[in-house]
Amino acid sequence: MKISLVKTTDAKPKPDENNLGFGRFFTDHMFIMDYEVEKGWHDPRIVQYAPLKMDPSTAVFHYGQAVFEGMKAFKDKEGKIRLFRPEQNMARLNRSNERMCIPKIDENFALKAIKKLIEIESDWIPTAPGTSLYVRPFIIATDITLGVHPAHNYYFMVILSPVGAYYAEGINPVSIYVEPHYVRAVRGGTGHAKAAGNYAGSLIAQQKAAQKGYSQVLWLDGLERKYIEEVGAMNVFFNISGELITPDLGDSVLPGITRDSVITLLKSWGIPVVERRLSVEELFKAHAEGKLIEAFGCGTAAVISPIGKLEWQGQEIEVTGGKIGELTQRIYDTITGIQSGKIEDEFGWVQKF
Ligand code: PLP
Ligand code: COI
Repeated sequence: MKISLVKTTDAKPKPDENNLGFGRFFTDHMFIMDYEVEKGWHDPRIVQYAPLKMDPSTAVFHYGQAVFEGMKAFKDKEGKIRLFRPEQNMARLNRSNERMCIPKIDENFALKAIKKLIEIESDWIPTAPGTSLYVRPFIIATDITLGVHPAHNYYFMVILSPVGAYYAEGINPVSIYVEPHYVRAVRGGTGHAKAAGNYAGSLIAQQKAAQKGYSQVLWLDGLERKYIEEVGAMNVFFNISGELITPDLGDSVLPGITRDSVITLLKSWGIPVVERRLSVEELFKAHAEGKLIEAFGCGTAAVISPIGKLEWQGQEIEVTGGKIGELTQRIYDTITGIQSGKIEDEFGWVQKF
């Protein structure tokens, strides 16, 4: 399939690289393609970034049949564009599609389209430390109907946003509220998919945590509310007595690409890492015994976010003296170094073009 291109003639001014925030600015063009049952995915095109005109009865507005991905593009010293493990995002997008009854995309073609769009917008890739071009592929149901059923029509779109740090704290430690009531996902639900509705359902707990003065939520399992699952929109790791523990992947935890990269790095450094169930009770006990050395969240947007404080059932504990842990810093430096090209990519994670 050939991707058509209509270049805009009114390019926008570029934002200040030192004041990007997250997801506030968008580039001049976007990618879009359509799905119809009879034609499959078709008409791939790159056009001016612009609002969509949609019927008020469009399915996605009512029943939320939508999935998305998130990845980052960087520009290295040689001016090459770098994407971090993008084939993993395409594979996960199709797994999300499967769960949400959305027709699968051709992963290779989608990645080709994403690269073409980024190439056209390469002047938008910021190079100030901590910045990148955030890539947001997403798929929405576009049937015009109020009937509840898998749609017959979809858009697959890609938009690009030059970004800085996701959390205002940047790489500084965040305070976390262990949510005792609301849950993000349940067994058999959609937690392992990057489904739009997962995020809508999580907002109330995020709001509650913010009102209590915490910046993120730690999610417990949906059945017993005992076992740790994720933190905010990130996977989570704890360093207990030198062993790194991260919750194992059931179908209620998002299989993070950063999580997988952290596990690979730790193994390559000979640091013990286990994927297992970890109760919040065990975590607080480890802290009381002086065994909780470090804690951090990890994800594409935030990269690595150290945890400085945790609140659970009225008890607040401080982790690593409220500072970034040594290993946390090493992981952050290594991942961002590989992404930007400052550190050799020994795992073959980066696709350059
Ligand atoms: N968990 C949730 C709920 C997320 O939204 C994300 C972000 O994508 C992650 C974990 C981390 O996944 P990744 O490392 O692939 O970005
Ligand atoms: C990401 O880390 O890419 C995410 O999608 C998290 C958030 C921006 C929803």
